[in-house]
Amino acid sequence: MSDGRFSGRVAVITGAASGAGKAVAARLAAEGAAVVLWDMDETALAAAQQQTRAALTRCVDVTDGNSVADAAAAVNETLGRLDLLMCSAGVTGATAPVAEYALDEWSRVIDTNLTGVFHACRAVIPFMRANGYGRIVNMSSIGGKEGNPNAAAYAASKAGILGFTKALGKELATSGILVNAVTPAVFRTSLLEQMPQSQIDYMIAKIPMGRVGEVEEVAALVCWLLSDECSFSTAATFDISGGRATY
Ligand SMILES: NC(=O)c1ccc[n+]([C@@H]2O[C@H](COP(=O)([O-])OP(=O)(O)OC[C@H]3O[C@@H](n4cnc5c(N)ncnc54)[C@H](O)[C@@H]3O)[C@@H](O)[C@H]2O)c1
Repeated sequence: MSDGRFSGRVAVITGAASGAGKAVAARLAAEGAAVVLWDMDETALAAAQQQTRAALTRCVDVTDGNSVADAAAAVNETLGRLDLLMCSAGVTGATAPVAEYALDEWSRVIDTNLTGVFHACRAVIPFMRANGYGRIVNMSSIGGKEGNPNAAAYAASKAGILGFTKALGKELATSGILVNAVTPAVFRTSLLEQMPQSQIDYMIAKIPMGRVGEVEEVAALVCWLLSDECSFSTAATFDISGGRATY
């Protein structure tokens, strides 16, 4: 393990085989952390381990609470501690008006995006408490603050993450464990491939900078929130939206 901002730290990232999770994993590993990648896409996980120099990978479906709990215990047993968690696993869900939205699809989005965050946070807190130290970053979205039409399940799941993060951050405020959320506007990853171009154009048109973000920009903010330098912020929401949100 090299010297760096995250030397000696053990980090878990959900949804780490792609996009923002993979970018954060690469940066944490480059700055000294032992990084554990969780994702349900086994093939992409293997490639991501090579690309990020992660210590471990595990096929984990965040909707399965028992599997998440087992995976957290395995990290602590294998690497001796668990300091940092980034919850990045997420899906956009169907693009459709509420009146036509299938209940199964609604449940899939809420189970993955919101209940998945609950499962991961719940599983790691005991290990962080044992050391009196932790940093948790949950990936919400501008959609959770503002709502995008035809994406109500996604918006509800991401707004839920904000409420959850505020509650958990306050619950743990004196424990040494800081919990924050980030609310990016659209940034360039494979998630965009799940959306029709018209939806992407709608979102870019709302960004004053007139462009999508890059994963490296998101990773820079998340890594600061996962670092020791973040010491007086918890239960908070951090904007990264090219000026779209000013709150
Ligand atoms: N890309 C954007 O424009 C954007 C904007 C705002 C917020 N976000 C949020 O950022 C996070 C990361 O998005 P991304 O763009 O990097 O997406 P991505 O599709 O590149 O990566 C998401 C990863 O989550 C994994 N995943 C999905 N369901 C899972 C499950 N049940 N268990 C474990 N892993 C699962 C996928 O296999 C994938 O590797 C998501 O929560 C997303 O909602 C993305």
